[in-house]
Amino acid sequence: MEILNDSTFVVPHVPRGSTGVAWLRSHVARFAEGADHVRRREAAVRLLEKVPLDRLRRPGHPVATLAEALGLPRHLASDVDIVAASYQPHDPVTPEADQAVGRLVNATGGRWNEDTAALIGLLVQASGATRSAITGNRPPVPTTRRTSPSGEEVLVDLSRFPFGAGRHACPGEQHAEALLDGVGRFPGLHDADEPLLLPNAWDFASAAALVRRGYLAIGTTSLGVAASRGLPDAVGSTYRETLELARSLARLPVPITVDIEAGFGVDAGELAAELTTMGVAGVNIEDGRGDRLESVDEQCDRVSALKAAAPELFVNARVDTYWLGLDHESTSTRATAYVDAGADGVFVPGLRDEPLIEDLVGVLGRTPLNVLAEHPFHRLRELGVRRVSTGSLLYRTAITQAVAAADAYRAGVSAPTAMSYDHIEETRRHVLPEPR
Ligand code: HEM
Repeated sequence: MEILNDSTFVVPHVPRGSTGVAWLRSHVARFAEGADHVRRREAAVRLLEKVPLDRLRRPGHPVATLAEALGLPRHLASDVDIVAASYQPHDPVTPEADQAVGRLVNATGGRWNEDTAALIGLLVQASGATRSAITGNRPPVPTTRRTSPSGEEVLVDLSRFPFGAGRHACPGEQHAEALLDGVGRFPGLHDADEPLLLPNAWDFASAAALVRRGYLAIGTTSLGVAASRGLPDAVGSTYRETLELARSLARLPVPITVDIEAGFGVDAGELAAELTTMGVAGVNIEDGRGDRLESVDEQCDRVSALKAAAPELFVNARVDTYWLGLDHESTSTRATAYVDAGADGVFVPGLRDEPLIEDLVGVLGRTPLNVLAEHPFHRLRELGVRRVSTGSLLYRTAITQAVAAADAYRAGVSAPTAMSYDHIEETRRHVLPEPR
């Protein structure tokens, strides 16, 4: 603390640079002292003052959320993460990081000046620290460095001052807390008094109607996504359609969790990064592969890769032993292995036996168990289930009702009641109050 308040202990010196990471380091407040520091810090604070904290309380990649609140595209988050790994003067600078700085400057107006550096600097400062907090590190930034009057480098312990102190103290503390609130929203719904009742949508209109009715989070149904596009379910054929749907649902004001089947055969880390950058809060990943189960080790690798790339993504590991009617005895071994690999929740569709549900709740302890809505909600709550999904039920009901309406007209009898044209139109406006 004394060192951070002592003006004779200065931040590490950075050489002046005209491009890449060297340019960024030598134009931000973080590695400047004196008048340069005061002027650059004021520029950063002016930018932060324009950000309404409520816009930061959203799920998904925290840097993407901050970028959007600063009027920038969300996808800049991936370049910001690359730069963050080379930002500190003691970090080696990679060619990728130098190129990423160039892209960030272009994307933020193309001017290599202190205002641009302040903007990129905010995103880079937010990147490592918030991700570290999300993975549970306390303090998220354990130490910082200063140079003593005799030129020695000193490591300063931040356990008592997680946001620093003195002239370089973090100006983004409230912003960090709002971002962490946003990331905590979806996991927090699994810790409420009531289990999370998660309805599964298949398009924007079905999700919007459910949001309007007050459901706190929305999932997707892979059957609904596949069947409504004329594709087979559970064979990895809806990668593009699922991402398209995820992008449109991420505009909704509630957390969205996406069924990614078995991962679509693409790189799990890249898929996680893409979804969290859109603002998606969680995914379901299944271990069923047609008529067999994936090996536990391979599935654990996939779960770990999702979490490593996007620690803020709530990974619900689906165990398909009951769904496929295979190897029931391995259910709890599989579930605990996926939790050890980083899964935040476990979903066992098709598990209906009450004593078995209760046992698995006990085995999982703090990790929430998710089952399908096949018993009354109050009964599942008594059994300790913490998330109840409707799965494909709503989609199947919608199709059933649509066919019944056509049949009723053909038979000359009264049709089932339906929402009006205006109601559907109005629902979109109602759930998307602000343009994004
Ligand atoms: C949990 C999240 C965060 C933690 C723990 C954290 C921590 C810190 C610490 C300890 C420092 C001081 C470093 C030093 O004195 O050497 C700092 C500086 C800074 N932080 Fe944060 N930070 C977090 C998130 C953020 C966010 C979200 C933003 C922007 C919105 C931000 C912007 C900055 C800036 C611009 C500085 C440099 C200030 C200066 O040198 O004058 N930080 N942060």
